[in-house]
Amino acid sequence: MHDILTAPFLVELVRTATNMYQHGWDERNGGNISLLLEEEQVRDYVDVTHVLRTIPAGFTAPDLAGRYFLVTGTGKYFKNIQYYPAENLGLIRLAQDDSTVEVLWGFSDGGRFTSELPAHLMSHSARLAVDPANRVVLHCHPNNLLAMTFVHDLDERAFTRTLWQMCTECIMVFPDGVNVLPWMLCGTAEIGQATAEKMKTARLVVWAQHGIYGAGANLDEAFGLIETAEKAAEVYLKIARLPWKQTIPDVGLRQVANHLGLTVRKGFLD
Ligand code: 13P
Ligand code: ZN
Repeated sequence: MHDILTAPFLVELVRTATNMYQHGWDERNGGNISLLLEEEQVRDYVDVTHVLRTIPAGFTAPDLAGRYFLVTGTGKYFKNIQYYPAENLGLIRLAQDDSTVEVLWGFSDGGRFTSELPAHLMSHSARLAVDPANRVVLHCHPNNLLAMTFVHDLDERAFTRTLWQMCTECIMVFPDGVNVLPWMLCGTAEIGQATAEKMKTARLVVWAQHGIYGAGANLDEAFGLIETAEKAAEVYLKIARLPWKQTIPDVGLRQVANHLGLTVRKGFLD
């Protein structure tokens, strides 16, 4: 058995968590990460027949029974993940009853998985149905996107169009746009279901007055999505109260999409 602390997937997740913290997206325990792993990836590092603990999930995710995830722990500070990965992270498997979490490694101080596991696992299911290559769901609290949800219309088309207009790269990075949930109680199966519903049509889901979810085939992709949207939100907040002289016209956005052969979210361009 190899040391799991040397596993490429764990090293990459720790680096991503640290980077998210350094970007100011994950104050205290704000935010959470889940990475879907195949049994072949984990069995060199943990004995998959040896369950350390079982914890009721508090929700069901039928299509994910038997699937493995490396996830952040609830209440755990992002700044500490790099120093104490075994306390702050856990390798879990959803049991065959699809409502029990089996801990195979980590949460070594008796802790448990993030309170947002419903939103993570349900989002994984929703994204896998659209894109079988999806492996990552990230949640964080980036300042500018969060601030934008106080002053911008929460209509998804309007919100997306504003972000697309802030920087030419935006429509290239998220041509599927951004979906938005109104403020809701977090850490529940209800917000999990609502997030997953939104994940069917976009890889970015904003939680008004809370933060954002991003999904992707790998940690870089999910991180890059949030990074790009957050930069656009920052530009928006810099210019929102200034008189605009010009922006990227719809014909320009369409030109970018056509040039790269991208499928743009239907109805979001004039
Ligand atoms: P956890 O500490 O349970 O992961 O919760 C943090 C958070 O961001 C809640 O939305
Ligand atoms: Zn949060």
